[in-house]
Amino acid sequence: MTQNPARIRKAVFPVAGLGTRFLPATKAQPKEMLPIVDKPLIQYAVEEAYAAGIRHMIFVTGRNKRAIEDHFDTAYELETELESAQKNALLELVHSVTPNDMNCSYVRQPRMLGLGHAVLCAEHLVGNEPFAVLLADDLMTGPTGGDPVLVQMVKAFEKLQGSILAVQEVPLNHVRRYGIVAGAPAGDRLIKVERMVEKPKPEAAPSRMGVAGRYVLTPEVFAEISAQPKGAGGEIQLTDGIAALMKKQSVYAFQYEGKRYDCGSKEGFLEATVELALQHTEVGDAFRSYLKTLAL
Ligand code: G1P
Repeated sequence: MTQNPARIRKAVFPVAGLGTRFLPATKAQPKEMLPIVDKPLIQYAVEEAYAAGIRHMIFVTGRNKRAIEDHFDTAYELETELESAQKNALLELVHSVTPNDMNCSYVRQPRMLGLGHAVLCAEHLVGNEPFAVLLADDLMTGPTGGDPVLVQMVKAFEKLQGSILAVQEVPLNHVRRYGIVAGAPAGDRLIKVERMVEKPKPEAAPSRMGVAGRYVLTPEVFAEISAQPKGAGGEIQLTDGIAALMKKQSVYAFQYEGKRYDCGSKEGFLEATVELALQHTEVGDAFRSYLKTLAL
């Protein structure tokens, strides 16, 4: 660690993935731009990072992902139209996507070599300081009225000054979808990670604690990722880099409060859509009444 105590100022969003599970919707648009009710997935993740005090957003992007850059840029035509029509509420909504004190950087991942490789593409923008990684596919909600998940993690980081992975218990037949961790209890909602495996078979899983798409990492992880050979699925895995880091520094798993929707899957996407629609100030009540009319 270089600074003590260090603060999390930067977030990395790996958004280069092809989104094949959502074809044909993702043929010509990034999966991160698919909306849950009225907001694209990537915006939920960026808002979570912003709520955690992060102001520098780093997107690891790829070909066909221009819409993400445009989303966080000024939309001159739209804004001029809204202004002249005096649609001030809408104009404010458009402006709120990118608050004035938020900076965005974009770096390309030229080839799909894995999540670890994607994070490595952001190394020169992150530098030598701890940072967050958010996978926008995982839409995370905090407990009602409570802190968003990354806010909980940043608070834990302020005390621990070590890498922290968000985890949740998953069914045994789902362990092959996740990075799985095992270790010893280390305080409130915390486990000191002793083992970490990417997408194990159920019989090889060290536990049922699956990593959700939120990480707070120390910069030393970059060197560890660089040293990794191809792992599960023939890709450079973030999990393998963290497993190597764990041998040199304490790494913690954090059982966050809240809920994770796997919006990379159709089921998770639909669950998020229904639940967030029910909570939506504008359409929630009407949508609830509508659902009640369905013969389910
Ligand atoms: C990635 C990580 C995995 C983690 C998961 C969370 O996998 O490699 O360790 O558990 O995200 O969503 P992916 O879902 O990109 O295959």
